[in-house]
Amino acid sequence: MDEGRRTNAQRLTWRTAEPEDAVPVRVALDGWWEKRLHHCVQPQLFEHYGDTTLIVEADGDLVGFLVGWLSQRFPEVAYVHFMGVRHDYRRCGLGRELYRRFAAMGRARGRTVLRAETGAFNHRSIAFHRSIGFTIEPGDEIVDGVAVHHDAIGIGGDYVVFSMDLSTGPL
Ligand SMILES: CC(C)(COP(=O)(O)OP(=O)(O)OC[C@H]1O[C@@H](n2cnc3c(N)ncnc32)[C@H](O)[C@@H]1OP(=O)(O)O)[C@@H](O)C(=O)NCCC(=O)NCCS
Repeated sequence: MDEGRRTNAQRLTWRTAEPEDAVPVRVALDGWWEKRLHHCVQPQLFEHYGDTTLIVEADGDLVGFLVGWLSQRFPEVAYVHFMGVRHDYRRCGLGRELYRRFAAMGRARGRTVLRAETGAFNHRSIAFHRSIGFTIEPGDEIVDGVAVHHDAIGIGGDYVVFSMDLSTGPL
């Protein structure tokens, strides 16, 4: 990590989310991804899953977040809906740390599996998830060596599903 990034990392504040965090996260989904994705953000997510959603700020500005929850249908699963790190805070371990804290929360609440998804277009995210120890789940088709699920109802594009065993995984 270079010195500037290390200094940045020291100034971070961490908290769980409030409903009003939906606004900056919505802006981030258009600016931090290669595609505009603000339609993925609903205020209800922050209202109902705020206590399992992580917000990271530097001097009051959003620099990282992870929107996740404990699955109701699958009592073993802690699920990550989306997460991101602002461009100038990338590659200093913040993404991994977001997952590490979410995994610890899931484990503390009895979850044994971490599950996440990313758009099949998002090669950077696929590399990141693999690097921090996720396994790619089987999909409908192998595209460029990656198992991809087709967007069956046509709302968001093809996607990749990741999982990690929380009892043996690296986080
Ligand atoms: C994907 C993302 C969250 C990674 O966050 P980050 O804070 O930069 O990740 P980390 O610094 O914790 O990286 C951990 C490891 O992942 C891998 N990695 C991270 N970014 C990578 C990239 N762009 N290309 C290849 N590998 C990458 C590296 O192995 C890295 O370790 P290293 O820096 O020691 O080599 C960030 O790039 C991002 O917000 N992208 C846009 C939003 C997005 O795609 N979110 C995920 C899908 S919901």
